[in-house]
Parts: sequence; structure tokens; C-alpha cells
Amino acid sequence: MNCLDRFFAFNRRLSSKLETRLPDAFKHHLHTLYKYQVAAIINRRPGQLVLDVGGGKECPFLQFVDQPQTHIIVALDCSEQQVRQNHQLALRIVGDAALSGFPLRDGSFDLVVSRSVVEHISNNSAYFKNCARALRPGGSMVHAFPGRFAPFALLNQVLPNRLVRRLIGYFLPEWVEEGNYGFVAFYNRCYYTAIRDLIRDNRLTNVRFVFTYYQALYFTSFFPLYCLMVSFDLTAWRLGIRNLASGILVMAERERDRAAPAAATVRGNDILPVSEVAG
Ligand SMILES: C[S@@+](CC[C@H](N)C(=O)[O-])C[C@H]1O[C@@H](n2cnc3c(N)ncnc32)[C@H](O)[C@@H]1O
Repeated sequence: MNCLDRFFAFNRRLSSKLETRLPDAFKHHLHTLYKYQVAAIINRRPGQLVLDVGGGKECPFLQFVDQPQTHIIVALDCSEQQVRQNHQLALRIVGDAALSGFPLRDGSFDLVVSRSVVEHISNNSAYFKNCARALRPGGSMVHAFPGRFAPFALLNQVLPNRLVRRLIGYFLPEWVEEGNYGFVAFYNRCYYTAIRDLIRDNRLTNVRFVFTYYQALYFTSFFPLYCLMVSFDLTAWRLGIRNLASGILVMAERERDRAAPAAATVRGNDILPVSEVAG
């Protein structure tokens, strides 16, 4: 361990001491909330058709689903390379979620979800429209993503992607092990009021938001900066400034069509894959 490594390790120890004193609200991780929320919706009844947009290499909520064999879960991702590595799901489709329309039949899914994807979509107006159209009447959507105006997200927007990848590689080596970082991020409309408007434009109902504010965790390697970031997070949280939230979880439903059945039954031909990924 060289001098610099020891310096950062010392700073991380100081930061972790302060971290234990932070409010409980800062202990809820967005990804954990997402996994439980998605699994809770799936566990309401068997036989659901679920679309995991930007599914990538893994299906994070699958381990919390009670009877996974009764559901059809489809991963849609623009990267064939990513989705090929997803061995948890049998149905994987390559397609760009930001184009006009998913390569899937409209109105067929019980649930459309995404984790850490909205920030990578260049056109979220099209994306939310696609998600809303993919849902059957009464179907739900859940998306978890970072807020555009949180300091770490601002840094991600101003620094070159190559530098961000190098910084993550050095300061957050556990991310590198997961191999799930460094995708180009646009943060298009990635803040509360913009997403609220997109939800309203698509006439979705039963809308619920959850916000997280603790993003100082990205700065633990330099204690003075960590303290500054903790102050920022505490202020934004205490004042409830939702547009400064570092994590956003949004849940909404497509309006129930009176003529449509309450719960669709899963059938293989309910979906229309354009290009499926093999093995
Ligand atoms: C940070 S990864 C998240 C993967 C997975 N959802 C998870 O939580 O582990 C972002 C994923 O979104 C995919 N993605 C980015 N832009 C996309 C787009 N326009 N359409 C479909 N997928 C996209 C990437 O290929 C990548 O697999």
C-alpha cells in the first residue's frame, strides 16, 4: 500500500465513523427499495408478464419473487453484449428503449420496470411513453434512477466518461467487480418535476415517489469533501427539495380500462420480440 492509498484509507475510516451517526433515512438504499417494491408487485398474483428494461446482466429482484416459474420476465436492452450475460432470464430482447415504440406488442405487460436505466436514456419523453404503452390497463411501472442535480450526478455530467470510469475503478473497486458501471449517462429529465410531468403527460395514475438523499457515500475517500457532501445531503433532505434528491423511485399505473379484464393471463404470443438473444 503506497502513501496515497494509506491517506485515502485513513479518510475512509473517518468517513465511516461519521456515517454511523447519520439519520436512519440515509440508511435506505434506492436499489434495495426497488428490489422489494418490484418483487412485492409481482408476488401479488402468479402468472404476470414483466418487462425489465435495460435489464443488462442481471435481474436484481428475481431472488425476492416467490414463484418465479409462474411469471414471464423479459429483459430488453440495447446492448446485446450485456444481455447475453444475463443467465437469470430466458427471454432477452435487443432493442433501444428510447426509440419510438418498444419492439413489443403494446398493452401487454402487467409490469414494466427499470433500475439504473433512466439516466442512460437520451430521450425520456419517448421512454416513458413506450413504458406506458407497453402496459396493459391497470398495469404498473417502477423505475429507480439517480437525480440529475445531486452533486455526484453533476460531476458525472461534466467529467469525461473515461475519467469517471478511472475514478470509479480507483475509489469504488467493488463496482468494477460487478462490471455494471460507466455507461454513458445523459440524465435527460432525471429530476422530480420533469418525471412528474412525464407521468402526467402519459395519463398514469396512482403515482408514488420515494426520494433518497444520501450521495455523500461517493466521497468517503476524502473526509473534508465527505463532510461537505453530508451537509448538502442533510440540507436537501431536511428541506425536502425533491429536485435535489440523489435517488428517485417512481411507481405509477396505467388507467384501468373498464372494458378490459382486471388481470391479463400470460400467453407466449402476448409479446412480439423483434430480435431475441440466444443462449
Ligand atoms: C447501469 S446498467 C443497469 C443494468 C440493470 N438494470 C441493473 O440494474 O443491474 C444500464 C443498462 O441500460 C442499458 N441501456 C442503456 N441505454 C439503453 C437504451 N436506450 N435502451 C435499452 N437499454 C439501454 C445498458 O445497455 C445497460 O445494460
